[in-house]
Amino acid sequence: MTAAERIEELREEALSAVASAGSTSDLESVRVRYLGRSAELTEIKKSIRDLPPEDRKAVGGASNKATKEIEGALHERLESVAATEREERLRAEAVDVTLPGTPYLKGSLHPSLRVIDEVVDFFVGLGYRVAEGPEVETDYYNFTALNIPPGHPARGMQDTFFLDEGLVLRTHTSPVQIRTMLSQEPPVYVVCPGRTYRRDSDPTHTPMFNQIEGLAVDKGLTLGHLKGTLAAMARHVFGEDVKVRLRPSYFQFVEPGVELDVSCFRCGGSDPNCKVCRGAGWIEMLGAGMVDPAVLTEVGYDPEEYTGFAFGMGPDRMAMVRYGIPDLRLFFEGDLRFLHQF
Ligand code: DAH
Repeated sequence: MTAAERIEELREEALSAVASAGSTSDLESVRVRYLGRSAELTEIKKSIRDLPPEDRKAVGGASNKATKEIEGALHERLESVAATEREERLRAEAVDVTLPGTPYLKGSLHPSLRVIDEVVDFFVGLGYRVAEGPEVETDYYNFTALNIPPGHPARGMQDTFFLDEGLVLRTHTSPVQIRTMLSQEPPVYVVCPGRTYRRDSDPTHTPMFNQIEGLAVDKGLTLGHLKGTLAAMARHVFGEDVKVRLRPSYFQFVEPGVELDVSCFRCGGSDPNCKVCRGAGWIEMLGAGMVDPAVLTEVGYDPEEYTGFAFGMGPDRMAMVRYGIPDLRLFFEGDLRFLHQF
């Protein structure tokens, strides 16, 4: 076979390889194979100078022509293959901007948290400090230090969740009183919001609920200070017109102990069918009292020098009354439809 014939064969082979190449990378291999540095056609061109002079022109011309043709065909095919590839890629990456987006669920403040914030803000405004304590509490802080010694019947009324030896889920926020007094000298003015736990579940009780404890210890504090402070708090939370009254009650860690009622913020006592107070005119709000001297002694304060008052309230209960919610369990089910009503 002459060089010219071989060139013709390579040209035809290359052109048909170009025509059947389906992708830009196929075309690149075709280019390397027929026009690359070690392609046969390239070798032929390199060897032209070794040919007899009378053959050089013909072989040179034929090989240049074949090279040009192959290059032209590669170029043309590359354009159309590349365009197809680009289209396919765009189709695959397409985003349908008309599809509906993922809805963004907006949160809202939980009704209990609204009450907690209002109460805490009120006391912070009076100069109280916010104190917190652990939810897993020792028997000592939850009971003994609060004047409820081991074996005392008052313990039985608390529906306590017992954990390991000596540990309980705190049944009230009152242990934070003890922790606070043990960690500082008087005067003390603290308000202590937090979660509390009791084995109880019905429309008005849930095993986990919120409490806010308050404690003031100073020289010369009286029941009058307690009543005035809590009356101002009730006006802040339930409105300027509400009145408060104290009823005698009993809690181990205060003496005297009282319960505080707030006049009905809805009917003020005028509606015998009132949904909020059920005609009573008063709503039970919280327990309170003057800190028992035994408790002050327990934490190393001198009851001859200092007196104090304490109170504990249930912000969940307060939110139920305030918003007219019949079932406390709704508070902890996390249903957004419930939350969005506030
Ligand atoms: N710890 C009481 C309870 O959970 C509430 C309470 C009553 C707290 C009287 C007090 C208080 O600080 O003085 O039932």
